[in-house]
Amino acid sequence: MGDNYSIGEILKGQKGDNNSDFVKKEAFKQVNLISELKPNEEVQVEGKVVSKRLQKTKSDRSFLLITLADKSQSIRAVDWYYPEENNNKIQVGEVIKLKGKTVFFENRIQINLINDEEAIEILNPLEVNPEKYMKSSQTELNTLINTLENYIVQVENLGVKALLTSIFIENDYIREMFLTSPAAMDIHHAYQNGLIEHSLKVTELSLKLYKTYSEEEVYINKDIIIAGALLHDIGKIEEYVITPSGIEKTEQGELMGHIPLGVKLIYEEAEKIGERISKEDLDHIIHIILSHHGEIEYGSPVVPKTLEAMIVNFSDNIDSKIARAKENIRNALQINENSTWSEYDKRLERKMKIEKYSD
Ligand SMILES: [Fe+2]
Ligand SMILES: [Fe+2]
Repeated sequence: MGDNYSIGEILKGQKGDNNSDFVKKEAFKQVNLISELKPNEEVQVEGKVVSKRLQKTKSDRSFLLITLADKSQSIRAVDWYYPEENNNKIQVGEVIKLKGKTVFFENRIQINLINDEEAIEILNPLEVNPEKYMKSSQTELNTLINTLENYIVQVENLGVKALLTSIFIENDYIREMFLTSPAAMDIHHAYQNGLIEHSLKVTELSLKLYKTYSEEEVYINKDIIIAGALLHDIGKIEEYVITPSGIEKTEQGELMGHIPLGVKLIYEEAEKIGERISKEDLDHIIHIILSHHGEIEYGSPVVPKTLEAMIVNFSDNIDSKIARAKENIRNALQINENSTWSEYDKRLERKMKIEKYSD
């Protein structure tokens, strides 16, 4: 985010704001969210540092480029006065407040920091309101819950259905956590409700693959696919925690990761329903959880060895990558609605071309 602008563009932004003798003032306008910023205002704005880069102009003048973001939007801030000092002062991931003037050019707003050593203030994480940084799934939670319950209703195998009911309907703790957890820190679905949204998409895709490939000679078990897809990332409810400064890994998440955590949770729930679920079905579901990353080097202790496990693994891969690419495009459009390319994405190892509707 925020790294593909030319020096000329940034200089133009600076010229436009006419703030070289911008003096220290106390009355800076406070905005709640970055998306509320308007051009030509003296503001104090709060945001999380997404990136920072110390740069030099052709004439060897240093400046610091900062990308700040909250759940509404990201914005570029430029510091011409204390670039080295502020580069040392702030860290990526910290929430800061900065004072500056907003300027508008090339379809986007930029903030130019004022000439003040204390233009940037670092917030104590306890002062930060996590709501400001927590994106939620764009789909209504009730719609997500209905879809989840519809999948469980479709399951015919009574043992598998009992397991899913015990986990998603009867266990209030798991249900609540599954409905609110993110699916990642920053890879894909890194927002509240991200886990349920991702798990449902994986189920939807898995059932499409099931339909495409099921035929008489080779049996594919639809019920196991639904259970495996809904449960594949269930360990994430204990892998991540939402804190004032964003999504963090729990100690258990760090030490174990979501695959063993999920396996443990499923065995504990299976105990409750006893013999209602067959050992064979339970082993099959556990195999899907263990193998869903597809390869040993991606963290799975075994590779998928059943058609159902292969289907869930491929669906998981599709949804995480497509969701990541879409988020990347959405971020670029938020910064500049006329963007034709997204920023380079390290995970996807590419930038994405942004197509427009032609009407
Ligand atoms: Fe996973
Ligand atoms: Fe997943």
